[in-house]
Amino acid sequence: MMRIGLFTDAHFAEGLTANKTRMCWKSLDKVKRLLAAFAGMDFAVQLGDLINACGDPDKDMENIRKMQHVLAEGGIECFGVLGNHDVESARKAVFLPGHARGYYHFDRENVRFIVLDGNFTSEMISYEDAEWDWTDSYIPNEQLAWLADTLAQTEGKAVILCHQNLDARANDPHVVKNSEEARRILEESGKVIAVIQGHCHSGCFQVINSIPYYTLKALCEGEAIPYAEAVIDGNGIRVVEKELTKE
Ligand SMILES: [Fe+2]
Repeated sequence: MMRIGLFTDAHFAEGLTANKTRMCWKSLDKVKRLLAAFAGMDFAVQLGDLINACGDPDKDMENIRKMQHVLAEGGIECFGVLGNHDVESARKAVFLPGHARGYYHFDRENVRFIVLDGNFTSEMISYEDAEWDWTDSYIPNEQLAWLADTLAQTEGKAVILCHQNLDARANDPHVVKNSEEARRILEESGKVIAVIQGHCHSGCFQVINSIPYYTLKALCEGEAIPYAEAVIDGNGIRVVEKELTKE
């Protein structure tokens, strides 16, 4: 059995409240509290938008370092997924040291966790190197081929982790432009037991062709401290959405 602590969209920035409801400045403390609450779990995953750019690159880097320090000192291994706001504040490699690309996989027990990077334009240019808009998100062909290949080589089951959304919601810009193509690869593999994603702050859940798509609620919104716990055992996966009580 495996237990995983999950959270998304911390949008941390010292002193910043954004879009009226995003209490970016509270997120460092919220993440600290979550990591403490995850004690005893096997590992944690943050699903992107760890940082909110504040308009000052030096301050952004300071905020990134502060958050990375909290993650390193949290007492639990935490894997990262790239979000659009992260790429606003720094190059992808700053968030994923050791990974040459924004996508990668890791194995735990007999489960493969596949981290995708939706931070590309529909011209398949990385946000790092493009003038981009968050509503234009895409998984380039090269990454899709890697995904199909990585799934083909998976012996057990697989869980997909992505900031942007891979399920189908008509006219919702949180969904990547070629999500249908990505879903076909997931479905044809027959190995994917769940897709877990962030980005759409209100959260969402749907099942498409037997694959559950969990969109977790954003950590930065208001006072709430939402997270999820995934339990994987011989029966499959259960993702339970929870909230830490406020102080
Ligand atoms: Fe976000």
